[in-house]
Amino acid sequence: MKTLDELKATAERHGHGHLFRFFHELNDAEKAKLHEQVSAVEFEVVNKLVDDFVKSTAPVASAADLKPAPVVPLPTTDEQRQAARGARAAGDEAFRRGRIACFLVAGGQGTRLGLNGPKGAFKIGPITDRTLFHIHAEKILALRRRYNAGVPWLIMTSDANDAETKAFFATHNYFGLGADTVRIFKQANMPAVGRDGTILMASKAEIALSPNGHGGSIKALHDSGSTAWLREHGVDTLFYFQVDNCLTQIGDPTFIGWHLLGGSKMSSKACRKRDWKEKVGVFGVIDGKLNVVEYSDLPESAARETLPDGSLKWWAGSIAIHVIDLGFIEQLNKGGFQLPYHKAEKAVACIGADGAPLALKSGEKNGIKFETFVFDALAQAERTVNVEASREDDFSPVKNADGDDSPMTAKRDMQEMYARWLGAAGTSIPRKADGTLDCTIEISPLTSLEGENLAGVAPAKIAPGAAVLL
Ligand code: UD1
Repeated sequence: MKTLDELKATAERHGHGHLFRFFHELNDAEKAKLHEQVSAVEFEVVNKLVDDFVKSTAPVASAADLKPAPVVPLPTTDEQRQAARGARAAGDEAFRRGRIACFLVAGGQGTRLGLNGPKGAFKIGPITDRTLFHIHAEKILALRRRYNAGVPWLIMTSDANDAETKAFFATHNYFGLGADTVRIFKQANMPAVGRDGTILMASKAEIALSPNGHGGSIKALHDSGSTAWLREHGVDTLFYFQVDNCLTQIGDPTFIGWHLLGGSKMSSKACRKRDWKEKVGVFGVIDGKLNVVEYSDLPESAARETLPDGSLKWWAGSIAIHVIDLGFIEQLNKGGFQLPYHKAEKAVACIGADGAPLALKSGEKNGIKFETFVFDALAQAERTVNVEASREDDFSPVKNADGDDSPMTAKRDMQEMYARWLGAAGTSIPRKADGTLDCTIEISPLTSLEGENLAGVAPAKIAPGAAVLL
């Protein structure tokens, strides 16, 4: 680490000398903390972002450069079903050989849900109130049992929720997975800047930092020693997923098989968009490379574009589920790679020049945060595979307090999936006049991961209003 004088000079040279404005007022612990925080700031990177995004407007992807992406469709013909069975067999075999680990990114702050703690601690089980973390954990435990394999679980957190996440897992005894097989590590931070491009201070003693986006996972996997740890465990392939999607088929062996058979470095799942407004990134090819164009970057005119049959042209929504080759992550980390940054205008709690907290007007976005996105690594992958997923089996995220993508829709979608499974096992399911379920259903992933194992345990009939827990 640089000495204080060196650090002050560096900050000064880059136009951020104000970070030390109140240094003389701080106690020793605060001084040490600020010294550490400022040492971690990459001033050249921050100033370049300020030039690109604050002082001018960096071009966003233009829909004119975008071509529809090839997607392995959901199987509808015998030939496609056979190919899918081949992919499934390849995925099953990779699991049995211990090649697969699961990787959850959970460093986000859950602001849209109005949460304080980690989003994974959100209760979502329709009967048991199981949390998102608990459901994810049971899916991984079920995979371990099915394949008699280690299936390690990596979880990326951030300063915003690392301690709470670790405490949550410890309190719940790692949901029976074993502490030594769940590896929780932190991503890095990025400073937020004000409208004038200077780094904001959260207090006299702290920079306004926030997690650097899930793209930070590529570097954090390496810097935390996780890539080396995975190699020691014989793992070469990661199943990547987000914390908020309660339906994710964690470790979907067919998807993993498509990735392996295609010799892919990074693969993705695509879901048909609900409508043009849905807030998901869309897949497209730019300069021959697969890309995700984030919803906020896709012009409305493009989002609304339709094909002659009336369906959306940019229908392939990203549900943020990937399979990533470990060698690809190692290779990126060797080359001093950098994923592009994206900006987000946000309300950032900070102090003013006088050291007093800045009073923000309601809705005022005084700051700019910078994040990298993991899907930008797709464009750096030699080969990619993009597989269509069915929304009802794979995607129902909890993002908003109410309306679409809320706890209400997630619980509904989970129960509709369980009802389909039970229906296929012969259970008669009660429904109300409007077609919605007239019962409450919850099936633990330890009982069934994808509708299997229900013969013999599925009831013949569910009475109206009854609750069925399997
Ligand atoms: C995200 C995707 C979007 C996709 C949608 C599917 C981005 C920018 N967009 O949108 O393309 O269609 O999910 O649901 O991701 N996270 C971190 N560290 C961070 C920031 C986020 O680990 O610094 C994690 C979060 O904990 C969460 C995930 O990344 O698990 C997604 O973050 P979120 O901000 O909720 O993305 P969305 O805007 O919902």
